[in-house]
Parts: sequence; C-alpha cells; structure tokens
Amino acid sequence: MASGPPAGTAATIRPAVAADTEAVAAIYNQGIEERSSTFETEPRETADVHAWLMAGERLPLLVADEGGRVLGWARMLAYSERAAYAGVGEVSVYVGAAARGRGLGRALLNALEQQARELDYWKLVGNLFADNAASARLVKSCGWREVGLHLRHGRLDGEWRDVLLVERVF
Ligand SMILES: CC(C)(COP(=O)(O)OP(=O)(O)OC[C@H]1O[C@@H](n2cnc3c(N)ncnc32)[C@H](O)[C@@H]1OP(=O)(O)O)[C@@H](O)C(=O)NCCC(=O)NCCS
Repeated sequence: MASGPPAGTAATIRPAVAADTEAVAAIYNQGIEERSSTFETEPRETADVHAWLMAGERLPLLVADEGGRVLGWARMLAYSERAAYAGVGEVSVYVGAAARGRGLGRALLNALEQQARELDYWKLVGNLFADNAASARLVKSCGWREVGLHLRHGRLDGEWRDVLLVERVF
C-alpha cells in the first residue's frame, strides 16, 4: 500500500521497511528530546523500531517518504490485549521538526486510518499532552473527537502533565 503525495509536498506514504528504522528512530528521538509529546525520556534504538516493524500486519508502521528521505512516520499500537478491545488501536504520529506544517502529519494519519478500516478496527485512540496544540489540531482536522482530559496523568522530568484522550470512531 502506498498513497499519493499530500497537497504541497512530493512525499509518498508507504509501509516502513528495514532500511527506514534509523530515520524513524531519529525522528522519534527528536520528539523525545522536545518533551512535548511523549513520557518517554530515553532515546530509542534502531532495534526498537525493528521490533515495531515485526509487530505484525495489525500494527502497521507507515512512513512519509520524499525522494527517498523519511520525513515522518505513523504507527499503530495495541490498545489492550483483552479480546473486547481487539478493534481498538492506539495511534502515534511523528514528523521531523524541519518537515512540520506541510501536511505530512495529516497524510500519515489519514493513511493509517484507512489501513485501520481495512483491518476492521472500529476505533482509534490517542493520548496527547494537553498543551500540544499541533497534535490536538491535527486530530481535530482529521475528524477525531475529544473524549476528555486526564489531569495529573503522569510526570515528565518531575513535572505533572495533563493528557488529552482523543478518539476516532468508524
Ligand atoms: C503533531 C504533528 C504530527 C503534526 O504534523 P504536521 O505535519 O506538522 O501537521 P500538518 O501539517 O499535517 O497539519 C495538520 C493540522 O495541524 C495544524 N498544525 C500543525 N502544526 C501546528 C502547530 N504548531 N500549532 C497549531 N496547529 C498546527 C495544521 O494547521 C493542520 O490543521 P488544519 O488542517 O486545520 O489547518 C507534528 O507537529 C509532530 O510530529 N509533533 C511532535 C510529535 C507529536 O506531537 N506527535 C503527536 C502525538 S503522538
């Protein structure tokens, strides 16, 4: 599966392959360093991303590829191991800082959503830092709804962070 370029870019959204793992890890590590989107604090290794690739058909990892350069990625994580939630996926989207604001996040999220529908998911969820305006705007413009706000949900570098729970129901 590969989809056409988002408006205003020459990027293609396609499934990640082993050769992409370094770029995917680098983009994620940039996000970890920024401290604005994840509670993770330790950089991820290429091997971690390789494990994501091996997670199976129901947990796709997509990349935005522009002329052979990976500029961003989107990934499905399992929401729960309980059978009742088999059709609920958790989504993670990261675009490298230099490539933000060009429609790549939207293109990645739309492509992942399309794949989720084909895989018979019935819902996607996301956990966003409440002060991460870009992510809230991205999901809103893709038709997601806000479920609610978890107050003091976790601590990052000792600071409490509120987490906005969002969902896309098919
Ligand atoms: C959130 C993120 C994925 C958005 O990707 P992007 O490629 O920059 O977003 P797009 O260009 O596709 O824009 C999507 C929407 O978000 C809006 N947006 C983008 N950056 C924004 C910002 N800094 N502030 C407010 N809105 C913003 C766009 O205007 C657009 O909304 P619109 O369609 O209503 O005009 C990107 O900022 C990022 O990787 N951030 C760090 C990681 C992160 O926060 N991930 C989300 C949590 S998993």
